[in-house]
Parts: sequence; C-alpha cells; structure tokens
Amino acid sequence: MFHLQEWVNVMPNRMPSSCPTGAAALLVLAALTNACSRGQTEQSSAASSAAPVQARASDLGSVEINPRLLRRFQPLPAAMESDREPITAPKVTLGRQLFYDARLSKAKDLSCNSCHDLARYGADNRPMSIGFRGQIGKRNSPTVYNAAGHFVQFWDGRSANAEEQVKVPILNPIEMAMASPGDVVATLAAVPGYAKAFHEAFPDDAHPVNYDNVGRAIAAFERKLVTPGRWDQFLRGDKEALTRAEKEGLKTFLNVGCMVCHTGPYLGGSMFERAGVVEPWPNQDDQGRAEVTKSAADRMMFKVPSLRNIEKTAPYFHDGSVGTLDDAVRVMGKRQLGLDLTLEEVTSIVTWLKSLTGEIPKDYIAMPQLPDAPTAVSLKGVN
Ligand code: HEC
Ligand code: HEC
Repeated sequence: MFHLQEWVNVMPNRMPSSCPTGAAALLVLAALTNACSRGQTEQSSAASSAAPVQARASDLGSVEINPRLLRRFQPLPAAMESDREPITAPKVTLGRQLFYDARLSKAKDLSCNSCHDLARYGADNRPMSIGFRGQIGKRNSPTVYNAAGHFVQFWDGRSANAEEQVKVPILNPIEMAMASPGDVVATLAAVPGYAKAFHEAFPDDAHPVNYDNVGRAIAAFERKLVTPGRWDQFLRGDKEALTRAEKEGLKTFLNVGCMVCHTGPYLGGSMFERAGVVEPWPNQDDQGRAEVTKSAADRMMFKVPSLRNIEKTAPYFHDGSVGTLDDAVRVMGKRQLGLDLTLEEVTSIVTWLKSLTGEIPKDYIAMPQLPDAPTAVSLKGVN
C-alpha cells in the first residue's frame, strides 16, 4: 500500500471541504490518496512502514518522489499501435493527405486540420469548434496528439477506436457535413491520385476506395502523432530532465490525488469519470456518456482527458468553460477532490504540467501535396 505518512508530512493541513461519495470515492480510496482516507489510515501505515520508505524513495535531486506513484505513469510509445490495424507507410501517406484535405467537407472549406491544427498542438483553441456554415458545436475540440492510444475516443467514448472515430466528423451535419459515406467515396474516387493511393494503401481490397478505409488511413496517420518531451526522459530515468520546481509540482499533483484519474502514458485517456465528483459541475447541459448509454449511472461521466501538452490546448474541459490552466487546476481541486488548493499549490502543479509539453513532429506533419488539388486544376484552366 501507499506510504501515507510521506504525504501527511508534506501537507499536514490539507483536508477536503467535503469527501467524495459513491464509485469515485471507492476509486479515490483505493489509491488512498485523498485526505478523507489519510487521517484514518495514517497511524497504521506509519507504524508499519516508516523505515523501508526512505530506502525505496528515489532521490530526485533533493525532491523525493514515491517510486510506486511514479510507476503510474509511462513514457509515450513511438507509435500508438493497434493489434488489428497495422501502421504501414502507404496508409500513413494517404492518411496525412486526407487529414489535410477540405474536399472531405460539404462546403470544401474544412479539413480535420481546421479543428485539430497540427502545428498548434492538435486543437483549435476555441471553447467550441466551428463547423459547416459557421455552426458552433457543443464540445471543445480535444487534441489529436497522443489521442489514438486512449481506451476510447471522444469525450463520451462513443467511438471504440481511432479508425471508427474518423468516420464521425466527416458526416456530422454541424462539422464536415458530407451527405453520406457514398458521397465521400464518390468524391475521393473522382480524384485519380486518390484512387491510386488507396490502391497502394489497401492492396488486398477489390474496391479499396471505401469509407472504412478512409478511417483506417487517417487513423494510421494519427497513430504516430506522438509528442515525447522532457517528461518522458524523466520517466526513463534522467532525473535532471525536470527542474526542481517541476518535481515539486509533480509531488503536489501526487499529494493531492490528481493521478487517481490522470494516469498512464497519457496522464488520462484510460477511464471515464464524473465531471464534478465532489461538487456538481456547474454546466449540466451536456450529460456526457449518459447521452450514449442512456443510463442514469453515466450522467456527467466523461473520458478523463490527457494532460500531455495541456498548456497549449486551452480553453479547458468538455464545455470549454475555463480559459486558463491555473483556473482549470483550481476547478479540478474543488470539484474532483473537494480541495481548495492554495495559490502556491496551483502554481506548483501548473509548473509541472508545463513540463508535459512535448515536441511537435514537424517533418511528420508537414502538409503534403494533395492529389490533383483544385489549385492545380484551376491553374491549368488559367493557362
Ligand atoms: C468542426 C471541427 C472539427 C472537425 C472538422 C473535426 N473535428 Fe475532431 N473533434 C472535434 C470536436 C469538437 C471533438 C470532440 C467531440 C466529442 O467528444 O463529442 C473532436 C474529437 C476528435 C477526436 C477524439 C479525441 C479524443 O481525445 O477523444 C479525434 C481523434 C478527432 N476528433 C479527429 C478528427 C479527424 C481525423 C477529423 C477529420 C476527419 C476531425 N477530427 C474533424 C472537432 C472537429
Ligand atoms: C476523479 C477523477 C479526477 C481527478 C481526481 C482529477 N481529474 Fe482532472 N479531469 C477529470 C475529468 C473527468 C476531466 C474532464 C472534465 C470535463 O471536461 O467535463 C478532467 C479534466 C482535467 C483538465 C482539463 C483537460 C482538458 O483537456 O480540457 C485538467 C487540466 C485537469 N483535469 C487537471 C487535473 C488536476 C491538476 C487534478 C488534481 C488537482 C485533477 N485533474 C484531478 C478527472 C479527474
């Protein structure tokens, strides 16, 4: 079990204003990170494990991080592989073109990149995205970086994987608004360069230009949209990859219990949780997962988002309701953990969160020449 006295020593006065109930409380209690459980178990834990703790705690400069807690995080993989959908070079080449191609939208003005700008960390930095004919969607656009490895796709998890996810926005009437899968296929089949590229990417298919393959190709491209950075070096054992202040921030994040939900290689993307575990979320318009399952138990359940590159993807939350990272951390403390975090704690956590910003793979995302692009056609017309 965890060594609670370490945390109690660091933050002796942190008690939540109220304690979580229900499933989330179990979750929190299971990790014994919340001050609700701290008081109850402190004594026995302190008595049984005072000596071994020091031996186990790794010395990270002079900031000690419990190695057991550190093991909740992993470095990013080189690619977010799928057992069923191998990433091949021809699929990636095609997928990159499709990602940037506005011909996949009804008005020919929106590509995936319009709302997931790869040069700007894969999001659009708007509270809500703007789709077909300026229509405003109901959710904030999450980044496509480091996303294909999540356990499900979308805030409400309604797509099981990246391949399925791709097929949704293209047909969404307030996003890319194409009329039907057949419409998309006809559009692409009319571009000779695409007919060839699909054939190369899916050599075993008799009719490679089909809607499922649009999903497969774009997803193959997305599966390599990873942004490793200093945090990954740190997890691989380079203690100097983070500054002292960043390590302090990590410790604060662990001490208050954020990693109960934000864990794994993506610091999120591995579970659903309620927005407003301790204090109800102010905006109840969007009921999240319950809108998919129609189950009352899923009300306000959302996929716990990744915290990678989080400083770059404001505004925050499914409803884009919070503009700054400081405020987002404050909201999390209050609504998810029942803690009124001090200014110092918030600043410390944010300092560490900024170390999660990785490097954009510039060459990989360079906008390709699109097959038989309309500009080329109109230029021909001019000549
Ligand atoms: C009009 C803006 C817009 C366009 C165009 C768009 N998206 Fe999105 N995307 C969003 C929004 C908003 C969400 C969140 C919706 C939700 O969760 O219900 C989203 C969610 C996603 C996710 C899920 C990420 C996660 O963490 O769960 C992926 C992946 C994604 N989009 C990829 C794409 C691809 C690929 C395309 C092009 C085929 C595309 N998007 C086109 C706005 C857009
Ligand atoms: C009980 C689970 C849980 C805990 C504990 C938790 N979070 Fe979250 N976090 C979530 C969920 C769920 C969301 C998405 C909420 C929404 O948008 O409706 C989220 C969203 C966020 C976001 C916004 C991400 C984005 O892309 O918009 C940040 C930043 C964040 N959390 C940081 C933290 C920090 C820092 C802590 C500790 C103080 C913390 N979280 C504790 C579940 C949790």
